[in-house]
Amino acid sequence: MARRALIAGNWKMYKTPAEAVEYARAFLPLVAGVSDRDIMIAPPYPALDAVAAALRGSGVGLGAQDLFWEDEGAFTGQVSPRMLCAVGCRYAIIGHSERRQFFGETDETVNRKVRAAVAAGLIPVMCVGESERERDAGQTFSILDKQVKGGLKNFVAEQVSSLVVAYEPVWAIGTGKTATSAQAQEAHRFIRSLIETLLGSQTAAGIRILYGGSVKPENITELMAMPDIDGGLVGGASLKPESFAKIVRFK
Ligand code: PGA
Repeated sequence: MARRALIAGNWKMYKTPAEAVEYARAFLPLVAGVSDRDIMIAPPYPALDAVAAALRGSGVGLGAQDLFWEDEGAFTGQVSPRMLCAVGCRYAIIGHSERRQFFGETDETVNRKVRAAVAAGLIPVMCVGESERERDAGQTFSILDKQVKGGLKNFVAEQVSSLVVAYEPVWAIGTGKTATSAQAQEAHRFIRSLIETLLGSQTAAGIRILYGGSVKPENITELMAMPDIDGGLVGGASLKPESFAKIVRFK
């Protein structure tokens, strides 16, 4: 089954609303006419509304970098899926390794968040990946097994047809060390086979698995040539319109 490529930019904690709008104005002409792949940008919360307005009509999707699983309530500091939909989000990144590392995210909270995203009609981009220590200890596959099974616990196939998984080896994030395309393909293949076991072959064949970790204009083409790599989740190189547009336009 042909899967449509998705190139997603995760801006992390960068850009004010004004900087984000300036970016959008520069970026959109650079990707004008790109219609055979999906593009997503995930700005920080305060910039979502302004970026939604700047992207309107462009076909570039808006994403959040996280969400909370309740609709509303006394949860200081949290943002609900409903609120994200209301400002125009179509995607939500969930379980990024920085959230796991610094903000106590676990497979269980990831599971609740994926469930809430799906219920609200958002496309979850569920992030998984091993640390350098885990890879060196030969635990890459057992970590991926635990994170994928934990994140997708108690789901049935119909609920996750829109799901996107991002494989992001922690040692490759922001370090300039990219996994080789063969290392990434091996992990993606493993994740797809896990999803097949959990949710069936049709679902596994349709789910997009993005690679993340030092994706750049120079390495995207080689990564995208791999059969199980369906896109990229791009941090640092998504912060400049020119480099992100080059990645989007991979051949
Ligand atoms: P990077 O970040 O592209 O800066 O390595 C990727 C990510 O954390 O999603």
